[in-house]
Amino acid sequence: PRHLLDFQDWSPERLTAILDNADTMLQVLDRPVKKVPALQGLTVCNAFFENSTRTRTSFELAARRMSADVLTFAAGSSSVSKGESLRDTVEVLTAYKVDAYIVRHHAAGAAHLVARYSGKPVINAGDGRRAHPTQALLDAYTVRQEFGSLEGKRVAIIGDVRHSRVARSNAELLPMLGAEVVLCGPATLLPSDLAALPGVTLTSDPKEAVRGAHAVMALRLQKERMGGGFLGSLQEYADTYQVNETLMAEAESGAIVLHPGPMNRDLEISGEAADGPRSRILQQVENGQAIRMSVLYHLLVGRD
Ligand code: CP
Repeated sequence: PRHLLDFQDWSPERLTAILDNADTMLQVLDRPVKKVPALQGLTVCNAFFENSTRTRTSFELAARRMSADVLTFAAGSSSVSKGESLRDTVEVLTAYKVDAYIVRHHAAGAAHLVARYSGKPVINAGDGRRAHPTQALLDAYTVRQEFGSLEGKRVAIIGDVRHSRVARSNAELLPMLGAEVVLCGPATLLPSDLAALPGVTLTSDPKEAVRGAHAVMALRLQKERMGGGFLGSLQEYADTYQVNETLMAEAESGAIVLHPGPMNRDLEISGEAADGPRSRILQQVENGQAIRMSVLYHLLVGRD
């Protein structure tokens, strides 16, 4: 595929090649001079219509590490605030001879529109509650790095599944690579349509979710996508669904803790779990840069 908008047109072999290439990218990042000429002469536009820390900075570094020019577009300080449309904005940026777009937007499908308006390769950096494919790739990579393979691994994803593009993308990707996914949260935050995906089960019981799990991922309550906000009691939520040492005692002995970030500590995850020996949260961040280098390379240069 020319774009990475979701995993629809992607085969397990191509996705595995991206994970394999990330090993090479981590080696580049371990060198004193962390730069290769792979994208020299190309211009990558980081187009962020919604806030981000990890995805924006890691894509920017990933492109620079491969010698691309990076144009950073932050909608909050742009003429979008004066009513300029997505289409007009993309046409302006494309007139500068941008070669590829990385797009984050609060609306599902926005990255598809940028692909159509620009005619350039587009990487979806999170669109509404729909998809966040590079996050799922870095999550899969982190589990694979820990256990050597994803085959037969069980990944429990606990929290606000309904509003989470991370949960949705992981539920699509991990079973394609041989892992099993269990999605867990209060019934109101657990969309039943995801149970139709192969290799995915749903439960509202967190102990059942983590039993036999090799990795447990906590998700943030996405209040910005809830309209009136979370109507339940946050204390009750934390008492039942928080990923903490007590819950992790039910998982496999070597199980790891993941969180895509940003975290609300002591709500969906305890400080002990976030900072403890099982935590691979900063490893996810580190792997994110390598995965994004690998995706950029795959789409803009070659596939091997
Ligand atoms: N996980 C993630 O997408 O984080 P940011 O919103 O900070 O990019």
